[in-house]
Amino acid sequence: MTTALAAAFKTIVEARRSHRVFDPHAPFDGTAVERSLTLASYAANSSNLQLWGFYRVRSADKLKLLADACLGQKAARSSREMVVFVTRRDLWRSRAQFMATHLRHVFAPDIGPEQQRILSYYEKLIPFLYLNDPFGILGYAKYLTMQLVGLFRPMVRQVRSQDLDIVVHKSCALAAQTFMLGIKAEGYDTCPMEGFDSRLVKKLLGLPSGAQINMVVAVGPVAATTPEPPRIRVAEREVVFTV
Ligand SMILES: Cc1cc2nc3c(=O)[nH]c(=O)nc-3n(C[C@H](O)[C@H](O)[C@H](O)COP(=O)(O)O)c2cc1C
Repeated sequence: MTTALAAAFKTIVEARRSHRVFDPHAPFDGTAVERSLTLASYAANSSNLQLWGFYRVRSADKLKLLADACLGQKAARSSREMVVFVTRRDLWRSRAQFMATHLRHVFAPDIGPEQQRILSYYEKLIPFLYLNDPFGILGYAKYLTMQLVGLFRPMVRQVRSQDLDIVVHKSCALAAQTFMLGIKAEGYDTCPMEGFDSRLVKKLLGLPSGAQINMVVAVGPVAATTPEPPRIRVAEREVVFTV
């Protein structure tokens, strides 16, 4: 049985497409971006560390610079706003502290073994995973240790510096997808882009070296007459497996 909620979700997911040309004259309500970013921040994310930042670019001069950094792509040039999804792995310490402090407050005064286990996760395990040196040597030492332990029991093996980049990019991309669905539900369209000069984008936003650009999402209204691009997907049997 299809519920009304499932039907509404299907409608939004099916309607979201990547559009490359936005209408410069159609009405556009920027508060839709604000609301969709709030929803984006509710996306599932690794350890709830929320190692991300969402940068709205709205002014004409900054949009022009960002469109140039996006290699002049049509979606970027015609967008009404762009949102840059940024990973902030470098903020792990403060975000882990935030979680531990918050949870202590929630648990107080009953901190039993289960609550202590959750606190240890943020106070001990997260620092163990995220602490690294500029050359990633510590990460390789952890990796080798995990491989050894993994000979005897199931073990998390993705503990090198580059593995942590993947961890934060995964979560950030989920936020970006949530944002794009939110924008579609608001009646506007988007185009996610990874075709950009990351150095230029970081400079434009004044980001520190530890930040990385996940994707840039162009947002705007599409002309009502714009034909829907054909949806091309490989057969489900090639991607959906029951084991
Ligand atoms: C991570 C990512 C990066 C993308 N980069 C670009 C891009 O730089 N330029 C572009 O025009 N489309 C880009 N796309 C859009 C894809 O081409 C598009 O999602 C795909 O063709 C499927 O079409 P649909 O989104 O309409 O379903 C990107 C999509 C994703 C998820």
